Amino acid sequence: MSVTERTLLCRDDQLAEGATLELECHGASVIALRHNGELHAYWNSCPHLSVPLNWGPNRFLDPSKQYLQCATHGALFELGDGRCISGPCQDDQLARLILERDGDHHYVVAGQPLPEQPSNLRREALDEIARQ
Ligand code: FES
Repeated sequence: MSVTERTLLCRDDQLAEGATLELECHGASVIALRHNGELHAYWNSCPHLSVPLNWGPNRFLDPSKQYLQCATHGALFELGDGRCISGPCQDDQLARLILERDGDHHYVVAGQPLPEQPSNLRREALDEIARQ
């Protein structure tokens, strides 16, 4: 599945420097943030288990506010490129959304893949038991 049409993500004035925002695009959760003046957007899906990163509504940053942090196993991700610098998915990367700016609005470009569905570990464990 992919983004079928150019889609409005946010207005430029919605994100101050250092701020994060949880948004939605085609039913999938998105992390938008501003870092060093640039707006970045990633699918809210940890590369370790494809689960959302946040601790709660719009809570993505570690205590130092220098990294995105996954609430499940604590992986830390660079704000500017989504690379994991610590945790079970070290050197893996958050999937970036390709954006284009049109005036004061940022749009998600059509044709890019949507994120994987989150892993359902309980279901996988029950399936494993059923196979034994
Ligand atoms: S699910 Fe994110 S670090 Fe494990």
